[in-house]
Amino acid sequence: MTTESRSIVEMITEQHATIRQLFADLEAAAPDERGEAFEPLVRLLAVHETAEEEIVYPIVNQLGDDAKAIVDARKHEEDAAKKALADLEDMDTASAEFAAALALFRGDVQAHASSEEAEILPLLATMDAERLEIIGKWFAAAEAMAPTHAHRMAPESAIGNLIVGPFVSMVDRVRDAIRDAGRR
Ligand SMILES: [Fe+2]
Ligand SMILES: [Fe+2]
Repeated sequence: MTTESRSIVEMITEQHATIRQLFADLEAAAPDERGEAFEPLVRLLAVHETAEEEIVYPIVNQLGDDAKAIVDARKHEEDAAKKALADLEDMDTASAEFAAALALFRGDVQAHASSEEAEILPLLATMDAERLEIIGKWFAAAEAMAPTHAHRMAPESAIGNLIVGPFVSMVDRVRDAIRDAGRR
């Protein structure tokens, strides 16, 4: 599998690039096509932010008080983003209200990703190679739950079922799957 040869730092960086692209696609979409463009973004955010919270942040937290303060700030941003996303899900994607809220949300999520790239990824990169490899495989397993091209997944597959529904329920199911994978 190609994902196994990518480091966790590379995977996070690539997912951030995909998130930025999905935001750009969504903002460029016609109002009546926003619903379709919104779905892969919500799915990737559910998997990405949950994998960071379950796999990356607990490990970075062990690097000392300064690292812990950085993680706390990033978690605070993720909590705010979850609330903003729940509000967006309640809106008509074709509305001007949605477009305005989306612009704010995009700015906040991109700033959050940039802060992680500046402050979290350099800390991760200091960790020993063996540990990085273990959490990298775990992160790759989580990533497999968020294919950005839905047509690649058979609709009847368990993974296909895992990644539908409102953001909050996706986060719950992704968290359960990540915890199960960690126990194995
Ligand atoms: Fe994050
Ligand atoms: Fe991130």
